[in-house]
Amino acid sequence: MSSILIKGAQIMTMNAREEVYTGDVYIENNLIIQMGPSIDLPADRVIDARGKVLLPGFIQTHIHLCQTLFRGRADDMELMDWLRKRIWPLEAAHDEESVFYSALLGIGELISSGTTTIMDMETVNHTESAFQAMAQSGIRVISGKVMMDHGSEVPIPLRETTSVSLQQSVDLLEKWNGFGGGRIQYAFCPRFVVSCTEELLTEVRDLSAQYHVRVHTHASENRGEIELVESERGMRNIVYLDHIGLANSRLVLAHCVWLSEEEKEIIKKRGVKVTHCPGSNLKLASGIAEIPDLMNRQIQVGIGADGAPCNNNLDMFQEMRLAALIQKVQHGPTVMDARTVLRMATMGGAEVLGMEREIGSLEPGKKADLVLLDLDDYHTYPSYETDIYSRVVYSATRSTVDTVIIDGSIVFENRKVLTMDRSI
Ligand code: GUN
Ligand code: FE
Repeated sequence: MSSILIKGAQIMTMNAREEVYTGDVYIENNLIIQMGPSIDLPADRVIDARGKVLLPGFIQTHIHLCQTLFRGRADDMELMDWLRKRIWPLEAAHDEESVFYSALLGIGELISSGTTTIMDMETVNHTESAFQAMAQSGIRVISGKVMMDHGSEVPIPLRETTSVSLQQSVDLLEKWNGFGGGRIQYAFCPRFVVSCTEELLTEVRDLSAQYHVRVHTHASENRGEIELVESERGMRNIVYLDHIGLANSRLVLAHCVWLSEEEKEIIKKRGVKVTHCPGSNLKLASGIAEIPDLMNRQIQVGIGADGAPCNNNLDMFQEMRLAALIQKVQHGPTVMDARTVLRMATMGGAEVLGMEREIGSLEPGKKADLVLLDLDDYHTYPSYETDIYSRVVYSATRSTVDTVIIDGSIVFENRKVLTMDRSI
């Protein structure tokens, strides 16, 4: 048994009552066992967190670890050109080692900026290497091999037959789903409708039900993509996914920038989840997703940085700020306040992943995934009243991350990611 006692932090629980108080958190193995104003229990490790802010670790619900190495090489294009001219050729050139290091580099960046859980999408080949990196690094992850069995413009190394795509996915699922006491889970990842046959999508529907795993895909990110889907399938994107029977509560859709009223109703009725990627939507000139409207409809929304080339950054602090700012310029100052954005980055992400009973808030019984911030540099005047939500969303940066704990293990402290070379 291992135990950690965190003393004297300002705790932002992000629980249903949104409680914030100064106190202690006691962790045993991978669980939060006790929280309160003062806990006196012996522990293997005591962290003095006085003056620091403790939060649930951030949850990013759309990431491509395999693209970390492409940062800075894929700029200033819209989605379909960017995929055809940059991303797909780069993914096609990946080998076992480059996928491993791309994942490891991305995970290091995520952990050191306070992200403890991701939903990730790999490339067609070498996904095994990415899972090795995820297992070693200690991050909590739902990931899978990308599936692409359709499209003449896809480079040859990424083209796969329906049966090979399905078989490789099931093999990876059987090996990795549930690894590390459930820290690693598998999701089927048909890339987007444009790159998938109806046969593949139908099989994915059945396999996701059979294995009780999620389906992670892109949808309605860009107008050109939507036109391609309409011209080939005769329907709008989400209408088509519903027609196939894929629209259900296991489906996570990245982007959803351009939705018709009918599509919003399908998402709501079927309990489909949405990932907002504000940085990516800006950099690829995709548009501004109508997140306030989706949230008013009680659709569950998380946040993700997308791949590193989508904004040269995997930092949740930046994504939170962008998520707030792009709505403010459109709809006024209050529509996306700091509290709402921080909730989207924590409990919102947990709901999108169907893990709201395990992660997303600091409560006894939940998994011990926490981030400790040292914001002192910014607000030191002792009697100055500040709004803690605003401080975290607008003042915190990667360099304010003090300690990160995932599944009860300290994975970052003293400005170092500790787990990157842990053998499995
Ligand atoms: N749509 C299909 N593939 C991708 C991808 O790799 N990134 C983004 N942003 N959108 C996509
Ligand atoms: Fe993406």
